[in-house]
Amino acid sequence: MLLRFVFGVFGMRQLTKDPDSFCTLGIETSCDETGLCLLRGPREIRAEVLASQIEEHAPYGGVIPEMASRRHQEMFLPLLEELFRRGGVENPSEEIDLIAVTQGPGLMGALLVGVMSAKGLAQGWNLPLLGVNHLEGHIFANVLHSSRLEPPFLNLVVSGGHTEIFLVRAYGSYELLGRTRDDAAGEAYDKVAKMLDLGYPGGPKVDALAARGNPGAFDFPVPLGNSSEIAFSFSGLKTAVLWKIEALKKKGLSPLPLEDICASFQKAVVASLTGKVRLAMKQTGILRVAVSGGVAANRGLRRGLSEIPEGDIFMPPPALCTDNAAMIAAAGYNGHMRGRRETLGLSPNPGMELA
Ligand code: KG4
Ligand code: ZN
Repeated sequence: MLLRFVFGVFGMRQLTKDPDSFCTLGIETSCDETGLCLLRGPREIRAEVLASQIEEHAPYGGVIPEMASRRHQEMFLPLLEELFRRGGVENPSEEIDLIAVTQGPGLMGALLVGVMSAKGLAQGWNLPLLGVNHLEGHIFANVLHSSRLEPPFLNLVVSGGHTEIFLVRAYGSYELLGRTRDDAAGEAYDKVAKMLDLGYPGGPKVDALAARGNPGAFDFPVPLGNSSEIAFSFSGLKTAVLWKIEALKKKGLSPLPLEDICASFQKAVVASLTGKVRLAMKQTGILRVAVSGGVAANRGLRRGLSEIPEGDIFMPPPALCTDNAAMIAAAGYNGHMRGRRETLGLSPNPGMELA
């Protein structure tokens, strides 16, 4: 008992634990999903719960930060109880070995709920705590899904707030190869959906309509298609779609050919993303490519990437593409095993960079 106490105090008891039975509690609250997960070892999900706030934010056409943090606060403890019920956890301080929480980037108030809750639990249960970069979490959705994926590899992160290609040299060692100059890909999907009155979030809706449309119906520009720089830009494409919608309305076209507009817009987005992935492959000579973030659930993008002839492509299932706590737990576990340690001085960092 005394030995157990001493190990606990110095955060060393985990060193004695078999890595495959090591249990990480993952916490994700960076935006509009409250996610909690119990991860066993590097990739076995023992239990997970996720409360989405999409329906509450939908009438406003986007996430309302203040509302998001309040909902995280309301949901956190009931979700934790549900997680423990599902995972059969009776004595958290004995059964959990690490708490990993999203530190940033994200919404300040939303991050604050996750980080402060994690700190309280870590202190109360005398457990080590680790802050995880949300983007590293997205990368780890791939590691979680496939035991075959090993660095070095390229990772395209495409979400509502990010469009970036990282070179993963080793776990914990990331190089930013290129990013968007303006909007993120998911943001462009959401804005086009708004123009077409499809509701929020628009990505899945545009994806579904695009599957039934003609991608050659409208000739939208492929952003930075002729540039040899690894960079993205979606604001010009978004404006081109807006002008096309205005022109069609002026012609008196009703209803609008939603399927064709979505398919043509998606064709340009996918051409841009796959084109820059191929450029990054060429420039680095690395053919192993992973993709993650909400837009990685897009069927057109998944098809486009899988058709890259020289590529060894990794794509997590859609539930691991969008925000979840399993990916945060997986990144935390890996960081802990690499020797990363944190103190209770951890604080949220809304603008946190990965590289
Ligand atoms: O990774 P995520 O859940 O949250 C962020 O970290 O941003 O990504 C959400 C974004 C939203 O913009 C949403 O419209 C987009 O991912 N998204 C999609 C699809 N599913 C989600 N975009 C295109 N096609 C989809 N199937
Ligand atoms: Zn995300």
